[in-house]
Amino acid sequence: MCGIIGIIGKAPVTPLLVDALKRLEYRGYDSAGVATLINGHIDRRRAEGKLANLEAKLAGEPLAGTIGIGHTRWATHGKPSERNAHPIATDRVAVVHNGIIENFQELKDELVAEGRRFDSDTDTEVVAQLLTSYLERQLSPEQAMEKAMGRFKGAFALVALFAGRHDILIGARRGSSLAVGYGEGAMYIGTDALALAPFTDRVAYLEEGDWAVLRDTDCLFYQGVTQVTRTAKHTGLSSTLVGKGNHPHFMLKEICEQPTVLGDTMQQYLDPSRRVRLPALSIDWKNVSRLTMTACGTANFACQIAKYWFEKLARLPVDTEIASEMGSRKPPLSKGSVCVAVSQSGETADTIRAIKYAKQEGLKVVSVVNVPESQIARLSDVVLLTVAGPEIAVASTKAFTTQLLVLLSAAIDAGRARGTLSEEDERALTLALIELPRKVSEVIDAQEQFKALGALELLAKAKCALYLGRDYQYLIAMEGALKLKELTYISAEGYAGGEMKHGPIALVDSDLPVFVLAPSGPSFDEMVSNFEQVKARGGQVILLTDARGASRLANESTACCITLPDVHPDVAPILYAVAVQLIAYHTALSMGRDIDQPRNLAKSVSVA
Ligand code: G6P
Repeated sequence: MCGIIGIIGKAPVTPLLVDALKRLEYRGYDSAGVATLINGHIDRRRAEGKLANLEAKLAGEPLAGTIGIGHTRWATHGKPSERNAHPIATDRVAVVHNGIIENFQELKDELVAEGRRFDSDTDTEVVAQLLTSYLERQLSPEQAMEKAMGRFKGAFALVALFAGRHDILIGARRGSSLAVGYGEGAMYIGTDALALAPFTDRVAYLEEGDWAVLRDTDCLFYQGVTQVTRTAKHTGLSSTLVGKGNHPHFMLKEICEQPTVLGDTMQQYLDPSRRVRLPALSIDWKNVSRLTMTACGTANFACQIAKYWFEKLARLPVDTEIASEMGSRKPPLSKGSVCVAVSQSGETADTIRAIKYAKQEGLKVVSVVNVPESQIARLSDVVLLTVAGPEIAVASTKAFTTQLLVLLSAAIDAGRARGTLSEEDERALTLALIELPRKVSEVIDAQEQFKALGALELLAKAKCALYLGRDYQYLIAMEGALKLKELTYISAEGYAGGEMKHGPIALVDSDLPVFVLAPSGPSFDEMVSNFEQVKARGGQVILLTDARGASRLANESTACCITLPDVHPDVAPILYAVAVQLIAYHTALSMGRDIDQPRNLAKSVSVA
């Protein structure tokens, strides 16, 4: 979602702003803009659509200046257009904003009554107009920001550039994240450390409710009128980490990184005797009566798979709640239960809201996150990190499989502590986990079979697709369907095999691709029944199985059979997750879709 950058330096700032916006593209956006000060006056360039449009505009009408702000906007209030693109400006101030000012209508009515004229349909414009109103009443920029913050409801990150003030930028944050970067003779402020990565690796984060005054050599932080200290730390991020390498897309790069990041994550959760163990966990599994797991999107499927693991291996009942539902319907949470929140970014607004509710109900919060400095990490009592590295493609891949690995490790730890997992079963599972990176490599190395799928006419003309699986594979079917619809815009559904006869079978005809996820194991025979039911109605089956399954169905005709390595049934969902990622990737590639930034989607969804 919206990306923010602000820079005060000595060099021409526009190319640096655009460069930073490119690194924020991954968040998803539909317009972009930059503003600078030239001889004290605010000037700006904005464009609808991709950054290339903004660059073209800047090529025709360059923008000078050594202080400036930039923005990629994901529309919330007002359609994506140049008029609604940020920076939103008056003649006194230009503002970039991530989040939503919930009481914007009330503020707008008040400002219109004062005689102010609005030029955009955005909620952000009330920020620019309110600051202007205060500046006109002789408040300093600092006083204006401090006072304005008291008027806004909702979650936001803001950076403001003031006419006539070449010396300061002011940032403010409530809810959405904002980081300050310390450079050599230049200072930076942006959405996250990735945006600042090539400029500096010394970063301080604004805390909830902070506002900050940035000058070219330092930054002062405030809570209300009180100055506070926020310490800059070195981040491990470097710009080289966030390139595509030799891959045509970030998504493929991130799929291919999975053997490495699964191995790195595994290292964190194995003790010297090669037993799975969670580090210094302040949760006594024996005294936990229930888990409430919550997340959004792909991370929500990680929770649903983890429910199966915890219930099977640790006999621990689990409720899973989509975070947006948990935050709004506020279900009763039983005492003695623990909330587990899962998030790649650690910044998803719905998940944050669900966590706050769980805390308010007195629950401890364990989070599984990929960004250690994120809000969710900071809100949690216990943080279990995934070591996936930056994930740039909107569709989550390596973050998902590392989340699964951490959650399975937690279920093993809980099963051992609760005496529900035998030593023998634990050994077999641990061995399967240690072998997982190698098996994931085998799936990736056998990509030809997925490429062949990309060439299938059937998929190119499909209007919808069905994914079927049982047990863990039911949930991978859901994730596979989500990936396909995100990347290709083909409507896709994931269903439990046993449930097919209760509805989706009505969709089956010769144009319907049906992905059947059937590793050999306890559910294989039942999946074969589903397979036969689909074929009997002319449906086109794409079978995902292992060598044993493939040989059992060798005489059956399929549109395509993808053979995956044999794997322990409890670890199989992680391996099959990689397969459904590759299916979505190659299908989208053959359809010419925008793989890394599918339309309308955002990577980090910072509004509720
Ligand atoms: C967005 C992304 C998904 C992601 C979800 C949750 O919808 O497009 O890929 O799964 O947000 O994000 P989080 O950062 O909380 O895992």
